[in-house]
Amino acid sequence: MDNRPIGFFDSGLGGLTCIPYLMNALPNERIVYFGDTARTPYGSKATGTIRHFAFEITDFLASEGVKMIVIACNTVSATCLGELRERHPDLPVLGIISPAAHTVAEKCGAENRVGIIGTKVTIASGAYREKIGRLAPKLDIHEAPCPIFVPLIEEGIVDNEIMDLSVRHYLDGFIAESAIDTLVLGCTHYPLIKDNISRLYPKLDIIDPSQEVVASIEGSLSRSGLLAGEGGPSGHMFYASDLSENFVNMIDRIFKGTGFKVAFKNFDLEARV
Ligand code: DGL
Repeated sequence: MDNRPIGFFDSGLGGLTCIPYLMNALPNERIVYFGDTARTPYGSKATGTIRHFAFEITDFLASEGVKMIVIACNTVSATCLGELRERHPDLPVLGIISPAAHTVAEKCGAENRVGIIGTKVTIASGAYREKIGRLAPKLDIHEAPCPIFVPLIEEGIVDNEIMDLSVRHYLDGFIAESAIDTLVLGCTHYPLIKDNISRLYPKLDIIDPSQEVVASIEGSLSRSGLLAGEGGPSGHMFYASDLSENFVNMIDRIFKGTGFKVAFKNFDLEARV
């Protein structure tokens, strides 16, 4: 039993989409979350830059005394998961692409035409294609980068025409040309526009891997004897490198009525240089 918190890291608020599943499955666990809102989006940046940011933030999470680090960001997982594991040999460091690939391999068959959407960096890395290819070599996979989604979501531009137009801009041609019937949300921000996508393409099956990521966290904690017990501290801590209103509101919405205590802190990148 281990009541230290779990460290979560994303470029912004995308990683928050895993939190409700985590609270449901493992209500005793505490979270220290870091959203790099000052430097989001990561998905169109050079891999060296992403690596530098990821080293900095995982070092910070480790210094907060976490028992595990969850890279709740496909872009970082695709770029430098192995290096992060080498950098933190005493901590389990979990990525998000392997559990997502398992879900796709389990849920899809040879009859499906599977579309994977993600950031430019995630799609260019080929990480999804490679991991799914190993598990289900016969799956018919197509990929498309959708770089404008993350900046719009971070700005809270979701329930409106601008987001619908952006969705159609990237997906109309992609879905029609490749006859996609199953769409995988290969970015943790995208569950926040799942309703837009399913409204615009009602026949599409959408795979949101967030839930499976939580199953992989639970498995890893349980195998290493790190699950939290009852009666530990109940508060969660949320750091952002630019504590935006959208970030705070979203966390308030997630925790409303749950009885959990939530604290926020602005993480001043300048002060740490
Ligand atoms: N949530 C991140 C991901 O899963 C978004 C990366 C970005 O900031 O572009 O890839």
